[in-house]
Amino acid sequence: MNFKRFTNLTYIALLAIFLMVGGESRAGDDKECLECHGSKEKVTDAAGAMELKLSPERSDSLVIRAARPGNVHEGIACTDCHPKASEIPHPTDTLKDNPCATCHDGSVKQVNGSAHRDPKGGSFLRAPCWGCHTAHDVRKTKDPLSAVAPVNVASRCLTCHAKREYLVGVHGQAVQLAGLDVAATCVSCHGAHDILAPSEAGSRVARRNISFTCGKCHGRVAEAYRKSVHGAALTASDNPDVPTCVDCHEAHGTLDPALPKFRLASPKACGRCHADERKMVKYGLSTQVYSTYVADFHGTTAELFRAASPDQPLNQAVCYDCHGYHDVGSVRSAGDKQIQERLLVRCQACHKAATASFISAWTGHYVPSPTRYKLIYWVRVFYRLAIPGTIGFFLVYIAVDVWGRRRNRRSS
Ligand code: HEC
Ligand code: HEC
Ligand code: HEC
Ligand code: HEC
Ligand code: HEC
Ligand code: HEC
Ligand code: HEC
Ligand code: HEC
Ligand code: HEC
Ligand code: HEC
Ligand code: HEC
Repeated sequence: MNFKRFTNLTYIALLAIFLMVGGESRAGDDKECLECHGSKEKVTDAAGAMELKLSPERSDSLVIRAARPGNVHEGIACTDCHPKASEIPHPTDTLKDNPCATCHDGSVKQVNGSAHRDPKGGSFLRAPCWGCHTAHDVRKTKDPLSAVAPVNVASRCLTCHAKREYLVGVHGQAVQLAGLDVAATCVSCHGAHDILAPSEAGSRVARRNISFTCGKCHGRVAEAYRKSVHGAALTASDNPDVPTCVDCHEAHGTLDPALPKFRLASPKACGRCHADERKMVKYGLSTQVYSTYVADFHGTTAELFRAASPDQPLNQAVCYDCHGYHDVGSVRSAGDKQIQERLLVRCQACHKAATASFISAWTGHYVPSPTRYKLIYWVRVFYRLAIPGTIGFFLVYIAVDVWGRRRNRRSS
């Protein structure tokens, strides 16, 4: 008979009896589980005795630390959550149920109303309770060591969602590096037990709700935005064509708008819609605003900067220096005089000595036509006709001359 095997079997039998009779005392109960689950050596030995081979990662994850101070479940026994584990070896369905459901059915109900619901309405949630709270170190949600505390929660969500760009955005950096707990975490923008997909009307991140969600912390910005042409259209009629906060600032990798990179990329960001014929035709807005911008002195330099030195600050005007950003107003509905006045103030931010005549030297977004900037238009037309006309005349003249000389040579 194999002596080692015999002693191991005895060990298991003894422990099993111990567990069954010792079930009354909770602390004692835990101690018995920890006889095997207390360290990597113990687990490996126990598994060896059961003739099981565990991978190193598996034996690591089977090591459970006794509850530390601050664990809300300190008074709860292992077997309250793992009733089947009293049997040794454990049955294969030891981990089949959601043990949290027994005491927290209210939370199960809440999560069942969210994107993480159990499709069958039970307690097998798409994000299980311990996916966010952990299983063995559950703490009060206000405890800074809790898995759902601002500084920790992103790493829980990131185990399932590929949104790592959050960590390099302004909010992620503020929370993770600067310890600024008031900056946005996944939970401040999405909620906790009530997270919904952006496509659901009640979601905090549904298009029409985004400005309110950001506005919890950026109140003044959100208010200005909702009064702008863009924000008013979204609030009034759910207009899907206008930008909301995250069209100009990425939701997860939110850039610091003070960075040159953000400023340099901004004309393209406005141009994405304002140069799009299909989008703009509905509103009767010109799509030449982007091409005329890129073609003028401000835009040409901005484009060169973007291509050559994206980290250099740009002193040229971009779209929002003239139009504003959160408070973009309608240009059409303002009278010409009002536009000129408003504009002059903006120009003066950089051109200190600018006067009304300075503005009139600028053709704006208009491509000169017989009705707008007539003089420039007709000068251009003149050049367009005169230059090819002159060159063409000389070409014909030379051709006739060459032909004439050849004929003269042949006849002589
Ligand atoms: C005699 C040693 C021993 C004792 C005592 C013991 N376990 Fe285990 N337990 C193991 C081993 C070995 C495994 C890995 C088994 C496997 O992979 O099938 C395990 C696995 C588990 C698992 C994971 C099951 C799964 O399906 O992945 C849970 C949960 C567990 N034990 C809880 C407990 C609890 C609670 C107690 C105390 C009531 C306890 N164990 C007591 C040895 C023990
Ligand atoms: C509040 C409920 C709760 C208590 C109390 C609890 N567990 Fe667990 N335990 C869980 C849940 C939930 C899981 C499943 C985690 C998972 O699937 O990632 C788990 C998983 C395990 C596993 C398997 C780990 C793995 O990675 O496969 C072991 C072993 C285990 N528990 C042992 C214990 C022991 C020993 C105790 C007592 C010291 C204990 N548990 C107390 C809820 C609990
Ligand atoms: C997607 C992550 C996530 C999931 C899944 C989740 N929670 Fe929570 N839970 C949180 C966060 C975050 C808080 C903190 C509340 C807040 O900040 O609004 C919280 C708060 C709590 C609270 C204290 C507040 C309250 O509502 O009573 C309990 C208890 C709780 N969760 C239990 C559970 C249980 C049980 C489950 C599984 C049914 C679960 N949680 C699933 C993230 C989650
Ligand atoms: C046997 C019953 C029981 C089970 C099972 C149980 N809990 Fe609890 N839980 C409690 C009790 C009781 C408290 C309150 C402790 C206190 O207030 O100090 C609590 C508190 C909590 C809190 C802290 C709430 C707060 O006020 O901040 C969270 C989070 C939590 N439980 C999550 C879970 C999760 C996740 C599971 C499953 C892994 C689970 N619970 C399983 C009984 C249970
Ligand atoms: C254990 C894995 C897991 C964890 C942890 C988790 N989720 Fe999820 N989440 C899922 C699954 C699975 C879905 C459903 C996927 C689907 O329907 O496409 C989902 C859906 C979502 C959705 C809806 C996505 C959509 O477009 O339908 C959002 C938003 C979301 N989770 C945010 C979070 C946040 C925020 C956290 C952390 C507080 C978190 N999740 C934690 C697994 C997880
Ligand atoms: C500053 C607010 C904010 C923060 C912080 C934030 N989100 Fe989001 N999230 C949004 C908005 C707004 C959307 C809506 C869709 C969009 O435009 O990207 C969204 C969409 C999502 C979606 C569903 C759509 C998709 O792209 O698949 C998931 C999943 C998600 N976020 C997960 C997370 C996770 C995980 C974190 C933390 C690491 C997080 N979010 C942090 C605002 C935020
Ligand atoms: C929970 C509060 C909170 C929410 C919700 C929130 N933010 Fe922030 N946000 C902050 C804080 C705090 C900072 C300052 C971070 C710093 O200074 O490092 C910040 C910084 C920023 C910045 C950088 C500008 C600056 O002044 O530093 C932008 C842009 C920004 N947030 C946009 C958004 C957008 C867009 C949303 C919604 C999708 C949003 N925020 C939601 C708290 C929040
Ligand atoms: C049409 C594009 C656009 C929209 C929509 C937009 N922003 Fe901005 N935002 C900008 C620009 C451009 C800047 C930076 C300009 C600068 O500082 O040079 C900025 C700056 C910011 C700042 C830094 C502080 C400040 O006021 O300069 C915050 C915070 C911010 N935005 C949040 C938001 C929030 C929240 C929303 C939605 C309510 C939003 N933004 C909507 C373009 C936009
Ligand atoms: C130097 C200041 C300035 C810059 C830079 C500028 N604009 Fe304008 N924009 C104006 C003025 C002034 C008007 C009023 C009409 C005009 O004179 O061309 C206008 C008109 C508009 C209109 C209304 C067009 C219509 O059909 O009536 C839109 C839309 C617009 N701009 C968007 C943009 C975008 C997008 C950019 C950047 C790619 C931009 N603007 C750059 C000053 C500027
Ligand atoms: C997501 C698409 C989108 C983006 C990005 C966008 N806009 Fe707009 N914008 C629109 C739409 C659509 C309208 C028409 C709204 C209406 O009339 O109801 C509009 C209207 C305007 C108007 C008013 C034109 C008038 O006279 O009626 C100006 C000016 C303007 N946008 C400037 C900008 C600037 C500057 C930026 C970049 C900072 C920008 N927009 C970014 C879609 C966009
Ligand atoms: C953000 C700063 C800024 C704003 C706002 C701005 N500009 Fe400029 N503009 C510049 C810079 C820088 C130059 C290049 C100056 C140089 O090279 O000497 C320039 C050049 C010009 C030139 C070329 C002639 C010259 O003086 O060199 C004209 C014309 C001009 N801007 C008109 C305007 C008008 C009209 C407005 C208002 C609608 C305006 N600018 C708003 C920064 C700005």
